[in-house]
Amino acid sequence: MSVPIVRTVAELRTVVAGWRRSGSSVAVVPTMGALHEGHLSLVRAALQKANRVIVTLFVNPKQFNSAADLAAYPRTENQDAAKLAPLGAHLLYVPDAEEMYPAGFATTVSVAAIVEGLCGAFRPGHFDGVATVVAKLFLQTGADFAFFGEKDFQQLRLVMRLVQDLDIPIALVHCPTVREADGLALSSRNARLSPAERAIAPKLPSVLLETADRLARGDPLLATLAEARAAILSAGYREVEYLELRGAADLQPMTSVDRPARLLVAAWLGDTRLIDNVTTSPIGSTN
Ligand code: PAF
Repeated sequence: MSVPIVRTVAELRTVVAGWRRSGSSVAVVPTMGALHEGHLSLVRAALQKANRVIVTLFVNPKQFNSAADLAAYPRTENQDAAKLAPLGAHLLYVPDAEEMYPAGFATTVSVAAIVEGLCGAFRPGHFDGVATVVAKLFLQTGADFAFFGEKDFQQLRLVMRLVQDLDIPIALVHCPTVREADGLALSSRNARLSPAERAIAPKLPSVLLETADRLARGDPLLATLAEARAAILSAGYREVEYLELRGAADLQPMTSVDRPARLLVAAWLGDTRLIDNVTTSPIGSTN
């Protein structure tokens, strides 16, 4: 069985209205395509929660910082549709840029504070692009639930803030990062790694986990982070953009693990930028 595809807001609304008439609940899984097991885990979770699941596939030009990055982003609609069919997703929504941002489009949704630092510091405008398209996708689908992965942790916090601030009637569900057997977080960008880079890549999550553990045990923050940066670079990464300890709930900088936290990293391996994050909590806490 194949997944029905719609490409316009009007078609999408017609399908959803039919579902609503029969009393169905609706979940949305927003994606930019190039689907991997991480996305599929979100779709499976959505299917557990709602009667109908929409997967959106839109490579959002507003969230790319460089034209080259946008051009290089994989576009694999047919393969994506083939991956979704056996899961039983009910609809694939694939708008093009003109449908999403018609001539005269002039609105930007911008979420303050959360976007400061981390990826926000290195990707100017990125989170405004994410907030704008996510707000549109929520309003276009009218879904009851939306599913996001924890790998893009700053994005997740941004979307939570957006939904709260704009009173959007949608419940957010977040799912753990899915990893390869060697620990590397699944990402559409992993496909860009050369075999040599792919062999180095899992050093990032292994340093992250070891560092999170050390910080939870009370090792000093600055020295421990400096050692972790050095370990990532000596493994073969070209640059560490950031490696920071932040509050899990508010993403505020932390100086010690005195409450549930996230250790977040972005690093360049050759020409590929990888991000990851892990939880860390005070020893003895259950969180
Ligand atoms: O995480 C992503 O793939 C994108 O940022 C999202 C949420 C689909 C918005 O374009």
